[in-house]
Amino acid sequence: MSDLTPESATRSADEYEVDHPLFAACYDFLPEPEALEAERGYLARDLSGRALELGCGTGDMFPFVVDGTAGDLEYHAIEPDPNMRKRAAEAAREAGLAVDLRDARAESLPYPDDSFDVVLAGVVFCTVQDPDAALEEVVRVLKPGGEFRFLEHVGADGWRGSGQRLLDPVWKRVAGGCHLTRDTVTRFVDHEALAVEEIDRLDDGVFPATPIVRGTLRRRQDGVLE
Ligand SMILES: C[S@@+](CC[C@H](N)C(=O)[O-])C[C@H]1O[C@@H](n2cnc3c(N)ncnc32)[C@H](O)[C@@H]1O
Repeated sequence: MSDLTPESATRSADEYEVDHPLFAACYDFLPEPEALEAERGYLARDLSGRALELGCGTGDMFPFVVDGTAGDLEYHAIEPDPNMRKRAAEAAREAGLAVDLRDARAESLPYPDDSFDVVLAGVVFCTVQDPDAALEEVVRVLKPGGEFRFLEHVGADGWRGSGQRLLDPVWKRVAGGCHLTRDTVTRFVDHEALAVEEIDRLDDGVFPATPIVRGTLRRRQDGVLE
C-alpha cells in the first residue's frame, strides 16, 4: 500500500479499500504474532462491560478474551480487510465468543460517543492509515474513565532505528501496510484527554518490528473533546 494523503486516509471503510489476501493468509504463521501471544492476556485481562477491539485481524485475541472475561461482556470488533474479517469470524466461532464484528476503519468508528468501557489495540497503530484520526476516534467512543489498552511495536533508537527506516518502504508493502518507524507511544501519552496508568517496554519480539510496548491509558473524567 502506498502512502496516503490525509484526505484519503480518513475516508470511510466503504470509500477506501484495505485488502491484503496474501498477508491475511500468512498472518498466523508469521513469527511476530507468535511473539505477541504471550502479551495478549494483558490486553484481555478482567474484561467486562462494552469492549471494542480495533483491527482484530484473524481474531487471535478471541480465545484470550474468553479466558479474560470477568463479568457481563459485550464484545465488538472492527476489521476493514475482508480476508482478515472472514478468518476472524471463524476464530470467533471456534473460540465460542459472541462478537459484533464490523467492516470499519479505526479512523471512522461506527459507534456513538462515550459508548465503550474498554478499547483494545494489538499491533494496529502501526498499520492504520491515519493514526492521529484513529486516536481521536478511540477517545471519542470511550466513556469518561474508560480504558485504552494497547500492545504496539514502535520505532527503535540507534542502529535498529536506522535499519527500520531503510526497511520501511519495502516492509509496508509486504506486511499489509505496517510501518516500522511510528512513535506510537508518544502519540498516546501526549493526548490531553488520556491519562497514563502504566506503560511497559517489553524484551520479546523479532527485529525489525521491535521494541514492543504495552500499556493502559484512561480517558480523563473531564476528557477534553472538541
Ligand atoms: C498487524 S495486523 C494485527 C491484527 C490483530 N490486531 C492482532 O493482534 O493480531 C493489523 C490489522 O489492522 C488492520 N487495519 C488496517 N488498516 C486499518 C484501519 N484503518 N483501521 C483498523 N484496522 C486496520 C489490518 O487489516 C490488520 O488486520
